[in-house]
Amino acid sequence: MKITRRIEFSSSHVCALAGRSEAENRALYGAAANPHGHGHNYVLEVTIAGQPDPVTGMIVDLKEVKEILNQEVVQPFDHRHLNHEVPPFDRIVPTTENIALEIWRRLAPHFSGAKGRLDLVKLYETEDLYVEYAGEPA
Ligand code: NI
Repeated sequence: MKITRRIEFSSSHVCALAGRSEAENRALYGAAANPHGHGHNYVLEVTIAGQPDPVTGMIVDLKEVKEILNQEVVQPFDHRHLNHEVPPFDRIVPTTENIALEIWRRLAPHFSGAKGRLDLVKLYETEDLYVEYAGEPA
């Protein structure tokens, strides 16, 4: 069984590779390479898989899930400029793909036990664009 929690955060970013000219970065990333940056209202869906506890009826304690998402994603990412304020995006381009990967890395250690394991990170950059990551193949 799977349970999904949705949260939102707002961040700004620039998609540009260090060491490339602005023209080269614009050719790669389009308007997202604008060095002034721009913002997105990201929507994150985090899916936990497991079996409901026979007594509590819950796969995972949702209060804990909320706290972990707050601590690992909302507090560090919300109203931040990712390239300037949120490692590793000082070194790695904060594309939707890379942000989803980083969120997976931050969350996976919290949901690895027998109780509930991290199943899917789904990150919407806009209503019309999202990335899904389900971890490395076992
Ligand atoms: Ni963007």
